[in-house]
Amino acid sequence: MKTIAVLTSGGDAPGMNAAIRAVVRTAIYHGVDVLGIKRGFNGLIRGEIEELEVSSVSDILQRGGTILRTARCEEFKTDKGLKKALNVVKIFGIDGIVVIGGDGSFRGAKDLSELGVPTIAIPGTIDNDIACTDFSIGFDTAVNTVIDAINKIRDTATSHERANIIEVMGRHSGDIALYAGLAGGAESIIVPEMGFDIDAVCKKLIKGKNRGKLHSIIILAEGVGGSLELGKQIQQKTGIETRATILGHIQRGGSPTARDRILASVMGARAVELLISGAGNRVIGIINNELKDFDIQEALNMEKSFDTHMYKLAGILSI
Ligand code: F6P
Repeated sequence: MKTIAVLTSGGDAPGMNAAIRAVVRTAIYHGVDVLGIKRGFNGLIRGEIEELEVSSVSDILQRGGTILRTARCEEFKTDKGLKKALNVVKIFGIDGIVVIGGDGSFRGAKDLSELGVPTIAIPGTIDNDIACTDFSIGFDTAVNTVIDAINKIRDTATSHERANIIEVMGRHSGDIALYAGLAGGAESIIVPEMGFDIDAVCKKLIKGKNRGKLHSIIILAEGVGGSLELGKQIQQKTGIETRATILGHIQRGGSPTARDRILASVMGARAVELLISGAGNRVIGIINNELKDFDIQEALNMEKSFDTHMYKLAGILSI
């Protein structure tokens, strides 16, 4: 393994830069050259590649986003796109690739591996929807961003004695809603994994109001969606003035938390170690605080479990 390359793909996530830094510095430490591929698989197809030195990744550990830029690439899913990418791999003398992204990016990593390019995938997505890992890079930062928003919205909700629905990202996963809802003391958490009964949500709001609560926060995952309409229905049913806020891409930015920086650092380093040891077609995960790696297809076949215990606990603590 003389030269490895690294790319970020799919939606960006805070901590991706920390992972790039770990890949670059671990590789250089082991005497391996590193190339940075720009704009995900698009850059691999087009040869948008530059050498990365120790100093190329200075001052990025604390920055959100990704210095390599990112993209979702349809062309890479075609035989023609893959062929072009393979040519570029040969031209640049790339012996192995680290792909940082979500499950869509893992499919690209698997295709590359199957064509003889050892590739290691690192889970980087705020959604925390990757089954082979307890946590993905960016999730903790996104949850903390949501908590910050909850605190702010609670101030104004209290002043006006309102209920407020906060719609959070997560694609089909309710993890951001669950973790932020528990940590932020939400009255109700609505996620695609559990389903919900609007009358039960309303009953809880009325009970709270009757015992003197000045505000109520409902966290709704985007996989359920419809926060504006739900707000109107709740107001109509309860008589409690209700507002809805869709947090959107604010959840994807910001300086990564210590937890995300550490996760990114250990996963980035492990990816390089795996390539050097001759491995390929692996995805890294952290389970019960222990780093593991899995065959990419096996990882894609796994089903992410939802923490129903935590969900129930959030309900109990917000009675
Ligand atoms: O996968 C990360 C994510 O932010 C999801 O939570 C969300 O559904 C999606 O990406 C938004 O995608 P885009 O940035 O392309 O609008």
